[in-house]
Amino acid sequence: MLCLSALLVGCTLTPAPSETLSSLPLVVPAPADNPTRPEVVELGRALFWDPLLSGNRDVACASCHHPDFGYSDGLAVSVGVGGRGVGRARADGPGARVGRNSLSVLFTAFNGLTTEGSVLPEDAPMFWDHRTASLEAQVLGPLKNALEMRGPAFAEDEILEELVRRLSGIPEYVDMFDAAFGPRGISETTLARAIAAFERTLVPTPTSFDRYLAGDDNAMTPSQIRGMHGFVAQGCSRCHSGPMLSDFKLHRLPVAPGASQAPDLGDGAGQFRTPTLRMVTLTAPYMHNGSVKTLDESIDFYHNLEVTDPLLEGDVEPPLGGGDDLRAFFEALSDGAFDRTVPERVPSGLRPGGG
Ligand code: HEC
Ligand code: HEC
Repeated sequence: MLCLSALLVGCTLTPAPSETLSSLPLVVPAPADNPTRPEVVELGRALFWDPLLSGNRDVACASCHHPDFGYSDGLAVSVGVGGRGVGRARADGPGARVGRNSLSVLFTAFNGLTTEGSVLPEDAPMFWDHRTASLEAQVLGPLKNALEMRGPAFAEDEILEELVRRLSGIPEYVDMFDAAFGPRGISETTLARAIAAFERTLVPTPTSFDRYLAGDDNAMTPSQIRGMHGFVAQGCSRCHSGPMLSDFKLHRLPVAPGASQAPDLGDGAGQFRTPTLRMVTLTAPYMHNGSVKTLDESIDFYHNLEVTDPLLEGDVEPPLGGGDDLRAFFEALSDGAFDRTVPERVPSGLRPGGG
């Protein structure tokens, strides 16, 4: 429920944070046919970093999902085939501009977990528009996408066969797939399973926010606690709710068009997923097109919305100042430690992370 007037913030209609926000379960879910085993995870890590998986051998998953940028890339929109370097370094070079802002891979093991409960890992929603379900299925998207990894040299229906052929020609990969999957061998299914299993390990340790909710009253500073209450009072947790600070629903917000981009209609009706706010201080720029550069700008974005904007159905109370506290709260959501390993080599001998 929302307070109707700014003056009433703090009134009894404002939900307590514990009704809308919660911490994560301790166990990371995995599908029955792809349990998270060490041999599979290590294979997945190698594949995630290996540009061998792109048509021109120049782009890896890690090119756009790099630990230095919270496993996104620090760019407004990602740079794919033909790009140079990893993360933000790709901005000024050549390379195909992908139409959207890279989503972080951190915490994707919990995609779909909301105040209403969890979904099976097989049904976990993926991408800004939820067009794919499960981490396993998601892997095939960038591999087949001409701008992200495939490039012009192979057709969409040829590339996976080509990748299986390449991997089968590298004895180290043959051994790793054997160790991970036994006689099942190298296939698009085992390739996808290995990368998905690695992604499920990219779950940061509990944040200050999680420790506070678990009962450690000193885990958040007074400013962070005020920020959390402001966040709830301002209606943010109507959508950024539950353990992931996302309802995993699609909404249409009046986000400004990105620079020199064709209009993006998201799910077809202009809607995009409420993104998680976990690790949000690491993943600028923001929104599906990267049009919001900083967290201060994101707070201004909501501040400047008409409360009566029909697109929001009056959902958002404009923040009443308190921006410093909100920013402090975002810090409390983003201070978990996570695996920042950058492998020194990958089995193909190519440069880890790509060109
Ligand atoms: C050229 C940059 C680029 C490359 C290479 C790339 N991605 Fe992404 N990734 C993105 C962008 C951009 C999005 C958001 C796209 C969208 O929603 O339409 C995304 C979305 C995702 C998501 C969805 C996260 C969520 O919360 O829904 C996952 C998981 C992911 N990528 C994993 C991978 C894996 C695994 C690979 C390698 C096989 C890969 N990506 C390669 C840019 C890239
Ligand atoms: C009606 C649901 C809704 C409400 C209420 C809402 N948000 Fe959002 N939020 C979204 C959606 C949807 C997006 C992504 C929009 C897009 O890219 O088109 C988003 C994006 C964001 C982002 C960018 C995150 C990223 O990784 O790109 C931040 C930060 C944010 N919201 C903070 C807030 C704050 C602070 C409030 C309260 C003042 C708030 N939101 C209220 C739905 C909502």
